[in-house]
Amino acid sequence: MDQFMPRAVAVSVFMLVLLFEHSSQLETQPLSSRAERLALIRLRSSLGLRAKEWPIKSDPCLIWRGIDCRNGTVVGINISGFKRTRIGRQNPQFAVDSLANLTHLESLNASFFALPGQIPDWFGQVLGTLQVLDLHSCSVVGAIPSSLGNLSSLITLILSDNRLTGIIPSSLGQLLNLSVLDLSQNSLTGSIPESVTYLQNLSRIDISLNNLSGSIPPGIGTLSNLERLNFSRNMLSSSIPSQIGGLANLVDLDLSANHLGSSLPQELKGMTSLQKMVIGNNGLVGGLPDVLFRDLTRLEFVDLSQNSFSGAIPDALWLISSLRIVDLSGNNFTGSLPNTSLNAIATAVVLNLSNNMYYGGLSSILQRFSSIDLSGNYFEGKVPDFAPSNISLIKNCLQNATEQRTLADCASFYASKGLTFDNFGIPTETPSRKSHKRTIILGAVLGGVGLLLLVFLLLLLFLCTRKRGVTDQRGNGVGPIHTTTIPPSPEVSINLLSLGEAFTYQQLLLATGDFAEANLIKHGHSGDLFRGFLEGGIPVVIKRINLNSARKDVYFLELDFFSKVSHHRLVPLLGYCLENENEKYLVYKYMPNGDLSSSLYRKVNPNDDSLKSLDWITRLKIAIGAAEALSYLHHECTPPFVHRDVQASSILLDDKFEVRLGSLSEVCVQEGDTHQSVITRFLRLPQTSEQDPSGSQTATCAYDVYSLGKVLLELVTGKLGISASSDSSMKEWLDQTLPYINIYDKELVTKIVDPSLIYDEDLLEEVWAMAIVARSCLNPKPSRRPLMRYILKALENPLKVVREENTGSARLRPTSSRGSWNAALFGSWRQSSSDVAAVPATSITRVSGTSGSQGSGQNGGDRSSSLRRQSREIFPEPSNDHDVERQSED
Ligand SMILES: *[C@@H]1O[C@H](CO)[C@@H](O)[C@H](O)[C@H]1NC(C)=O
Ligand SMILES: *[C@@H]1O[C@H](CO)[C@@H](O)[C@H](O)[C@H]1NC(C)=O
Ligand SMILES: *[C@@H]1O[C@H](CO)[C@@H](O)[C@H](O)[C@H]1NC(C)=O
Ligand SMILES: *[C@@H]1O[C@H](CO)[C@@H](O)[C@H](O)[C@H]1NC(C)=O
Ligand SMILES: *[C@@H]1O[C@H](CO)[C@@H](O)[C@H](O)[C@H]1NC(C)=O
Ligand SMILES: *[C@@H]1O[C@H](CO)[C@@H](O)[C@H](O)[C@H]1NC(C)=O
Ligand SMILES: *[C@@H]1O[C@H](CO)[C@@H](O)[C@H](O)[C@H]1NC(C)=O
Ligand SMILES: *[C@@H]1O[C@H](CO)[C@@H](O)[C@H](O)[C@H]1NC(C)=O
Ligand SMILES: *[C@@H]1O[C@H](CO)[C@@H](O)[C@H](O)[C@H]1NC(C)=O
Repeated sequence: MDQFMPRAVAVSVFMLVLLFEHSSQLETQPLSSRAERLALIRLRSSLGLRAKEWPIKSDPCLIWRGIDCRNGTVVGINISGFKRTRIGRQNPQFAVDSLANLTHLESLNASFFALPGQIPDWFGQVLGTLQVLDLHSCSVVGAIPSSLGNLSSLITLILSDNRLTGIIPSSLGQLLNLSVLDLSQNSLTGSIPESVTYLQNLSRIDISLNNLSGSIPPGIGTLSNLERLNFSRNMLSSSIPSQIGGLANLVDLDLSANHLGSSLPQELKGMTSLQKMVIGNNGLVGGLPDVLFRDLTRLEFVDLSQNSFSGAIPDALWLISSLRIVDLSGNNFTGSLPNTSLNAIATAVVLNLSNNMYYGGLSSILQRFSSIDLSGNYFEGKVPDFAPSNISLIKNCLQNATEQRTLADCASFYASKGLTFDNFGIPTETPSRKSHKRTIILGAVLGGVGLLLLVFLLLLLFLCTRKRGVTDQRGNGVGPIHTTTIPPSPEVSINLLSLGEAFTYQQLLLATGDFAEANLIKHGHSGDLFRGFLEGGIPVVIKRINLNSARKDVYFLELDFFSKVSHHRLVPLLGYCLENENEKYLVYKYMPNGDLSSSLYRKVNPNDDSLKSLDWITRLKIAIGAAEALSYLHHECTPPFVHRDVQASSILLDDKFEVRLGSLSEVCVQEGDTHQSVITRFLRLPQTSEQDPSGSQTATCAYDVYSLGKVLLELVTGKLGISASSDSSMKEWLDQTLPYINIYDKELVTKIVDPSLIYDEDLLEEVWAMAIVARSCLNPKPSRRPLMRYILKALENPLKVVREENTGSARLRPTSSRGSWNAALFGSWRQSSSDVAAVPATSITRVSGTSGSQGSGQNGGDRSSSLRRQSREIFPEPSNDHDVERQSED
């Protein structure tokens, strides 16, 4: 053709040919073999390929997509991502028999092309020239034929993301030229054949995401060309062989999510090219050798998360300048951050040190990182200015951050390290000094007999009343809360047989995946709660009580309680495990709807536009359920029990949002109301930490009433966390909110009602009624709060609460139903109204006027009942419903 062209053009064509010699060879020569052409056409029809890619009348080497030819013969087929014809789609097959006639085939790439069948056994006998076989994501099934070991020219073998089963044939060890072996994302079983260690030319091996078991052959360490090794997400066990430290060219190591227990061999320091080290989630133990990171100067990504490593993180790790992502979360690393300031060039991006046991101050080392998670450690001190804004610091012991650990938790941790906790920066007296002082003063006041009595009372008090919650504890000094009141051998005195199953520790380990962090629901104040599944798939919640940090008798008291009570409103205890000396376990039925605080949270989340609000009917049902449970404890148990931890998170909800009251570790018997309790009360007066801000003792039923009042208010207002809080901001909020609850003005309440609640006029009356009940519960004077059984009645009949006392609509209900509960409620209501915010005198006049006119129109009983009500104001606790009911009907 040269002779028809100008010279210049000919020269440039020649140069192009030189430049692209290879491609011109591949592309410019038509297919010369008729047999190969026929084979391709048969392949075209057996796979159902389209004319779009392989037009039947044109030359495969010149026109067909994905066909590579050399010197007129086919050397490569790439049908990656091709679509089949409509007919081809109907019955896709691994039908490639005619490949056998392409005798020079070097590469077959069918990735993402469905070949739902087995890899033909004859591949190994026939495709002897094959160098590249890529069947990634081809829906291939069955076993890897061991004949593939005959494809001795193979350089790349990719069978990833299929449904391959069976073992990895050891014949693959014959593929001495193999450079890439990728069998990941299949269901291969068995162990890694020793023979892969013969593949000296291997640069990448990926067998992740299979079900391989057994140990890692140490010989892997001799594959000196290896750059990428991924064995993650299998069931490989035993240990990481120290020999793999010999992989000096390894760039990327991923052994995560296996069962490689034992410790990290320090020989890994030989992997001097390593940039990525991912060994998370393995159950690795022990410390990190200090020398390990000194030579790994190229590390960018280190993931050692979710193991059981302990000890300090070697300083050498922090000093690696190429670091970008460091995840050490979920271990037992302990120590404090080094105070090294690094050269400004060193940039690292992400640090996750969450859920370890690091302590001390936040040091300047953190300046290297732009995204930091330190949650779940024991860091103390102030949050420094250089901390990035997105730093996560919850569950630490920091002074200037929210959601920190309790003082007891922090103090006991620091004590266990032989250190003194900074007590959130608040100077305090130690509890022992404090109580001594009190004893002395009171002892002097009361004299000898009084002292004896006092000792006795303090003992009583000690057994029953406990410090709870951050705010309660703050003023109370440091030191682990170890009390010496250990029941000598608890199990003896409780009938364990009545308490469900005695689980073995092994069973609980199985149920919770070894108490994996992922199964942790929350750190409760009496123990950590884990979700789990018993054999047979029964979902449960398991409370792990660590006797080193919790009171020794806490599980005993709870078991004792469960042995004495039984009610459908209490969370069911399924069993326990007392095998271990220092950890005890209680097993409860799982509550599908969590607790009230989490149900409300979903709704209040401002990012969540979908109004997944608990509707009013459900809220009322929950209020009634909670009152029912407490009414049982207060009135049906002898002696009465006080729950002492009534808050939204204690109100558990089953699948139908029925209340099952939980958090029963604080329950105790109510103090008798004999003269002893009067003295107790007197003695306790200066002891603020034993008192609720409401002024009541925590071991009285009135305390529960107050707490329930907060829960009811939470239901009405949708404001999260009222019931869990007892600090001054909550008090302030209450002072602002309660004036909107007025028995003479329904509309006022709409100002505080949860804006996400949809209510009509009728429901508003119920909302209003619940608010009124809440307010009467929140009477600052414990003696003026209604009894739980009246609260229950009021919640069961909310409309009576508002209609009886208020307007002419009183006619709507039968007169005989005017119950003592209502009187009790309103007796306390008046008092509470005047205590919290003086009700205008006019309203009071108005109500007596209304009541008078009503009375004349009806049965004239109102006068006596209002007299009775007045008497209730002094002591609004009628001894018995029937008495009062009769009284009012007289
Ligand atoms: C293709 O190969 C088979 C056996 O390998 C042979 O029997 C057949 O004749 C070949 N076809 C052609 C067209 O050469
Ligand atoms: C190209 O193929 C022809 C026959 O088709 C053969 O004679 C020749 O040797 C081949 N050349 C190369 C470089 O393979
Ligand atoms: C294989 O074919 C696909 C789709 O035609 C193309 O995107 C890809 O680059 C080809 N791969 C090779 C290695 O030629
Ligand atoms: C096969 O083709 C895909 C393109 O679809 C490509 O990404 C892949 O690298 C190819 N496989 C090999 C081994 O070249
Ligand atoms: C191919 O492999 C199989 C099984 O590994 C073996 O039995 C057979 O002899 C081999 N065939 C050839 C031609 O190498
Ligand atoms: C392995 O590769 C080398 C160099 O690429 C080649 O000379 C040798 O023939 C190959 N071995 C086999 C069995 O294909
Ligand atoms: C190993 O691979 C390199 C290229 O990566 C090649 O040059 C060498 O010949 C191969 N060695 C063997 C034994 O196949
Ligand atoms: C940390 O250590 C404690 C005891 O020292 C152990 O109970 C706990 O399970 C460990 N945690 C992890 C994540 O290994
Ligand atoms: C620390 O607390 C002070 C006042 O208590 C506040 O002004 C400051 O913003 C807080 N700093 C941080 C980082 O939370």
